[in-house]
Amino acid sequence: MNQDRPISPSAATRAAARVALVTCADLPGLDEDDQALIPALAARGIAAEPVAWDATGADWTGYDLAIVRNTWDYAKRRAEFLAWAHAVPRLANPAAVLEWNTDKRYLRELAAAGIPVVPTDWVEPGAAWTPAASGEIVVKPAISAGSIDTGRYDLATQAEPAAAHVRRLQDAGRLVMVQPYLGEVDTAGETALLYLGGAFSHAIRKGAILTGPYEAAAELYQEEHIEPRTPAAAERALADRVLGALPGPAGDLLYIRVDLLPSADGPVVIEVELTEPSLFFATAPGSADRFAAAVERRLK
Ligand SMILES: Nc1ncnc2c1ncn2[C@@H]1O[C@H](COP(=O)(O)OP(=O)(O)O)[C@@H](O)[C@H]1O
Ligand SMILES: [Mg+2]
Repeated sequence: MNQDRPISPSAATRAAARVALVTCADLPGLDEDDQALIPALAARGIAAEPVAWDATGADWTGYDLAIVRNTWDYAKRRAEFLAWAHAVPRLANPAAVLEWNTDKRYLRELAAAGIPVVPTDWVEPGAAWTPAASGEIVVKPAISAGSIDTGRYDLATQAEPAAAHVRRLQDAGRLVMVQPYLGEVDTAGETALLYLGGAFSHAIRKGAILTGPYEAAAELYQEEHIEPRTPAAAERALADRVLGALPGPAGDLLYIRVDLLPSADGPVVIEVELTEPSLFFATAPGSADRFAAAVERRLK
């Protein structure tokens, strides 16, 4: 009899893993779609609880993993949010990834790597900006989420409100993005491709969102129309290329969402969501369980 053999605890006696599903104070019980993660994780013996990222008294050392999900209020408090992320001992996606991903300047890196992205003029605070005589444009801040502070302008008639929007963002010290409005979205919609644990899981179609100039709203995000979609081969190929152009291995990321707009030249990247993307579990049977399986692998 080998008395030195290490004792490995059985599944029944092993302490259940505990994870935090990180949300914001306005959604203390998580977005409805992400609530599906709680039973999916429980089925694998993982206890999950929603916790707001800025909750006073939260003990982040007490979780085997903290998973960012609905932190939709970070855009106006990015420095505070990133300081929090860097202080959490086990965070998915990792803090350095959140830092890279919460400022859309990363689109320039993707473009430099040969990835087609929405053509963008970057207007620094204090820089002059003169609207073209015609054409439809989008004005938005480089640090934003949920279409907040994002507006669409027809320059033939709305040059003045477009310039006022640019100025308002600049005056708040924000880097401004000016893009052509890619009108193909009106009919074809936007395509978001979801990767869980580094593997493609599912995709959705999001209807066009912008109808005109930005009007300040109290909401966390603009209303979205979502349905399941099978991505076109060119969309899937582009999203796979984006995974290869990220700053680290895609397999290290618990979740990745690649958002594409249609254009006359084929799909282009509008954004890559590695921070707090909706993952649209409700549109794809089995996807919450695939997420839970990826969490389980991470905990081992
Ligand atoms: N250049 C564009 N052309 C057409 N629609 C756009 C463009 N930029 C943004 N939009 C619309 O605005 C929404 C929000 O813009 P996005 O860049 O994804 O910012 P956010 O980080 O707020 O989601 C998109 O889902 C899309 O409907
Ligand atoms: Mg978006």
